[in-house]
Amino acid sequence: MTSKLYLGTNLKMYKTNRDTAEYISLLSALTGDLDPDRLQLFVIPSFPAIADASRLADHRRIQIGAQNMHWAEAGPFTGEVSPLMLRELSVDIVELGHSERRHVFGETEEMIRLKTDSALRHGFTVLLCVGETAGEKEAGRMDEVLRGQLAAALDGLSPECADRLWIAYEPVWAIGAHGQQAEPGYAGCRFREIRGALLRLWGRRGEEVPLLFGGSVNAENAESYLQLSEVNGLFIGRSAWDAFRFSELIHSLAER
Ligand code: PGA
Repeated sequence: MTSKLYLGTNLKMYKTNRDTAEYISLLSALTGDLDPDRLQLFVIPSFPAIADASRLADHRRIQIGAQNMHWAEAGPFTGEVSPLMLRELSVDIVELGHSERRHVFGETEEMIRLKTDSALRHGFTVLLCVGETAGEKEAGRMDEVLRGQLAAALDGLSPECADRLWIAYEPVWAIGAHGQQAEPGYAGCRFREIRGALLRLWGRRGEEVPLLFGGSVNAENAESYLQLSEVNGLFIGRSAWDAFRFSELIHSLAER
């Protein structure tokens, strides 16, 4: 299992191009002292901000991601963005299956599978987000849901994909301003389920996939999730959107 620490943020639809450029410049300056061999930072801006963010970032230190991608290289798909467009901007990561894509915009398992396959074929790292809703948790179906989401997204992929796949477990009910926090013990059980599914799918290569936790991560609870044995990093929303505060959190976690 990787010993590298992964810390990153999805900026959702909160920062303009100018805001993002300032954020990347500041975060780069504030975290330039940290060892990129031990710490992988990443930032996932909105589409219009990717070009400048990608140009400003030292990609060895801060990888740049896209929040979504269509699977086709080109076509009559108004409002969509293709792998070729992202590749031209030196995007490193494509985030797929975030709960807002699944539950607000109705992305299906089949769409996520097509996107995952295409993103890997086009050389990106895929950050695949999985997680159960409150209702699924209450019905005791969380592990079944996670297994289903993984099986659907990774269907047909070879074990060689393990070195370009990251998985974020984000319980849907723990995301955002009204979310509750997940107990680390609860999250730990879900991470064991996810790792187990990867091992069944890809054998030992399944150990290589970094697993990240997300959903109301903040300076107070971050450490408790990182202490879980299967967790390699954190995928953070609100608590990472101020570069100074995020840098403080990064330093406190990287220097543990
Ligand atoms: P949050 O967002 O940290 O603000 O809850 C997490 C996410 O949506 O990935």
